[in-house]
Amino acid sequence: NLNKLIVIGSVNIDHILNVNEFPKPGETLKGSNYKISYGGKGANQAVAAGRLGANVQFIAAVGDDDLGKKFKQQLESDHIDTHTVAVVESKNTGVALILVNKQGENQIAIHEGANSAVTPEYVGQFEDDIIKANAVLMQLETPLQTIEHVAKLAKQNNTKVILNPAPAQSLSDDLLKHIDIITPNETEAEYLTGIKIVTEQDAQKASAFLHNKGINTVIITLGSKGAWVSYCGKGEIVSGFHVKAVDTIGAGDTFNGMLVTALLEGKVLNQAVRYAHAAAALSVTKAGAQTSVPTRNEVEDFIKLQGL
Ligand code: RIB
Ligand code: NA
Repeated sequence: NLNKLIVIGSVNIDHILNVNEFPKPGETLKGSNYKISYGGKGANQAVAAGRLGANVQFIAAVGDDDLGKKFKQQLESDHIDTHTVAVVESKNTGVALILVNKQGENQIAIHEGANSAVTPEYVGQFEDDIIKANAVLMQLETPLQTIEHVAKLAKQNNTKVILNPAPAQSLSDDLLKHIDIITPNETEAEYLTGIKIVTEQDAQKASAFLHNKGINTVIITLGSKGAWVSYCGKGEIVSGFHVKAVDTIGAGDTFNGMLVTALLEGKVLNQAVRYAHAAAALSVTKAGAQTSVPTRNEVEDFIKLQGL
C-alpha cells in the first residue's frame, strides 16, 4: 500500500482512573484501576491508521520528558514515520486526565503542553510532504491556525483533507470550505451547525448545512445508531455493531483511522464506514486508547462474522 497518509495532531499521556460515578463539585472519591497510557487524538488516529494498514507519517510534538521520548519510540514500533515528531525543550508532553464511570462514559481534562508547538511555522517545514501525500487527517487538539493553514495548502494541492472536529468547537467558514471529509459526532455536529441531532432528519439537515459550506462528504457518528453518511446531499444511515463497552476512550479515533485507511485502499464510502464501525466496536471492548486499537486481522475476522 503506497498511499501516503499524514496525520497532524496531538500527543497526550492519558491518566485513566475508573470510578463508580463521576465526583460532584467539591467531592472526593476513591477510584480504581489507575493506568498511565499513550493517547491524544492525533497519536491515537495515527496508531489506528498505522496498525490497520495505512502508510502513516505523523506530524506532532512531545515534551523533552521521559514519557514523551518513550511515546515516540512506541509510535515507531507501530510502524509510524515519526521523523516529523518534534521533541520540544522545556515543555511537558500533553496530558489528559480521564475518569471512566461504571457505564463506560468518560470525562476528560487536558493540558496541551508540547502540543502548542505544532504551529503553522513548524508544520510549514513539511509542506512538501503534505503536498505529496494522498490525504491528511487532523483533529482539534492542536492550534487551530495550523489546521487552517494545512487544510488550505492540502486542498490547493489535491491532498484529501479529513477533519475529525473533536473536541467540539465551532469553526470558521474559511476552514470548512477546505475540508473534503468531516466526521463529527452528534455534539460536535451541533457545535458546527447549531442543529441538535436527535432524529435522522436532524442529521440530514446538519449534513446539508456542512455541504453548503463546501464539504462534499459528511459523516455524523450517532453512537449505537451507527452513522449518518452523506455525499453531496445524498445520505443514509450506515449501521454499526453492538458490543459490550469496557470504555469508549479512543473509539472515535479508531473509527477515523480505519475510515481513512479503508478509503485510501479504494473502498467505497459506505463500505469504509462499515469497516470503521467494526474497528471502533472492537476498540470499545478493551481498555484505554491505543491499547484498544485492534489489528487489521481482528477487524477482517469480525466483519466476516457480522457481515459487511
Ligand atoms: O479521543 C481520546 C483521547 O482524547 C484520549 O486519548 C485523550 O488523550 C484525549 O485527548
Ligand atoms: Na477503548
